[in-house]
Amino acid sequence: MGRQYVIAGNWKMYKTAEESREFVRALAKEFSDAPGLTVIVFPPFTSLQAVSGLDPRVHIGAQNLFFEEQGAFTGEISALMLRGLAEYALVGHSERRQVFHESDGDVNRKLLAALAAGLKPVLCVGETLPEREAGQTLDKVKGQLDRGLAGVTGGDWERVIVAYEPIWAIGTGRNATPQQAEEVHRHIRGTLGEKAPGRAIPILYGGSVKPENSLELLAQENISGVLVGGASLKVDQFSAIIRSGLKLLGA
Ligand code: PGA
Repeated sequence: MGRQYVIAGNWKMYKTAEESREFVRALAKEFSDAPGLTVIVFPPFTSLQAVSGLDPRVHIGAQNLFFEEQGAFTGEISALMLRGLAEYALVGHSERRQVFHESDGDVNRKLLAALAAGLKPVLCVGETLPEREAGQTLDKVKGQLDRGLAGVTGGDWERVIVAYEPIWAIGTGRNATPQQAEEVHRHIRGTLGEKAPGRAIPILYGGSVKPENSLELLAQENISGVLVGGASLKVDQFSAIIRSGLKLLGA
């Protein structure tokens, strides 16, 4: 099987339903489909209905979910409720971990709930700057993978995606160099190989991905795509990153 790229945009708390719909319509005009390319956007919950099913080339994901199916959990959204509206779901984004105090245990329950509901979870992992400087990057990421992916079995591995997002690179304009990213991706590939032998689990890089650095990042052997924050909010920038992927696919 040839190379495959996932180009994903995490919109965070930006865009109304109307803005989201316009964005997806405009984005769809900017790229043509190619074998091996998957484009995903992660709008806020309130935009999911507006963009779901709008264009078959733009896949839709949720930014979060709660692990219970239903109940007295004011303000939460379950995996069951996302079914039919979203195909993917981010779990454990560093903003969820840091701002909303989600533990690895919470993240694991969310990932398992997403899988149980037929969604494709994107598990986000990554180290802080002090952890990198203390040489703890690989241990930190390994621990997050071990705890986040606990209990995943059999065919469910087919739907798992991992995103490596060094926290010091998110929203800072300071991306990991392609070499720094590749080193961690290779390590993640090894860890996943032990957990799920023979499965080609996509590993995305995230953290200040822009049109200018996307080609070199995507060219790394163990980088199977990118998770883009800020630069995914503008059609011209996000489509330029998609075109980097298309270029490497030879499309
Ligand atoms: P950024 O965000 O591209 O704005 O750094 C990435 C992310 O948080 O997923």
